[in-house]
Amino acid sequence: MSSADGNLPDSPHRSTTTDTDAAGRLDPAVLSATNRRPAPAPAPSFAQSPPGRPRRLVVGITGATGAILGIRLLEVLAALNVETHLVLSAAAEDCISIETDWNVAQVRALATAHYRNTQLAASISSGSFQVDGMVIVPLSMATLGKVRHGIGDNLVCRAADVTLKETGRPLVLVPRETPLNAIHLQNLAALSELGVCVVPPMLTFYNKPTALSHQIDHIVARVLDQFGLNTALTTRWGPSHTAKRPTSSTTRPADDITGQASTTGAAATPESRA
Ligand SMILES: Cc1cc2nc3c(=O)[nH]c(=O)nc-3n(C[C@H](O)[C@H](O)[C@H](O)COP(=O)(O)O)c2cc1C
Repeated sequence: MSSADGNLPDSPHRSTTTDTDAAGRLDPAVLSATNRRPAPAPAPSFAQSPPGRPRRLVVGITGATGAILGIRLLEVLAALNVETHLVLSAAAEDCISIETDWNVAQVRALATAHYRNTQLAASISSGSFQVDGMVIVPLSMATLGKVRHGIGDNLVCRAADVTLKETGRPLVLVPRETPLNAIHLQNLAALSELGVCVVPPMLTFYNKPTALSHQIDHIVARVLDQFGLNTALTTRWGPSHTAKRPTSSTTRPADDITGQASTTGAAATPESRA
């Protein structure tokens, strides 16, 4: 909160009359002190949620393929008793309908609270509403560009902008596009340099996935890791992985590639979830 003269009450840059000489020049010792860099902020920690308040995350789902990643994340966060504040972009709603067996109402019902993307007066539009971070999964390249340039003209982008401006609030992005052009890469690099965690939904093979749901859960688990949330969703790398295995166990039969004899399972559907 700023004071009437525009200086922060505890600002190290606030000058006082006692620090100047008769000519009004600032004492060099004070000048050097004011130029000193502030002590680094403590490392962000998810454990800093105030006692009595549940862990609280903002979840944005935008219009990139892979809406099921956001849906699965919401399911798992609900199981972990994490309070979720969900925003779906209009294109995300299309992707949910096109790609999954879910409808938008069912997805919204997974969250503690949900908002329209045009709802710029929502609580999550303000930094004074305390949250423990935000994830956008999947992240479209359109929203990526806006977030990188601070364009908060919808609620997903505004909430991301707020997350970036507040100290100690992790922003995790799950960008989805392939291949990536130089604009996408530059936007991701710029945000990464600001401390944003970029978790692309890359395929993973070291844990021997046998179903699509394993790939989905692996990405969700890696997102949760960034917030210090531990789950048994995926197999973590460990000594057992380094044991030598016969090559044949890593090779699928040829007809499996066509999907005809595939063991690839579908991710959770509204009907199949417990
Ligand atoms: C089915 C479908 C899949 C799409 N997949 C992607 C994608 O993987 N990555 C991407 O950046 N845009 C994708 N798009 C295009 C975006 O939805 C589009 O750029 C949109 O304006 C993004 O708006 P939003 O960021 O507000 O959600 C897809 C669109 C549709 C309809």
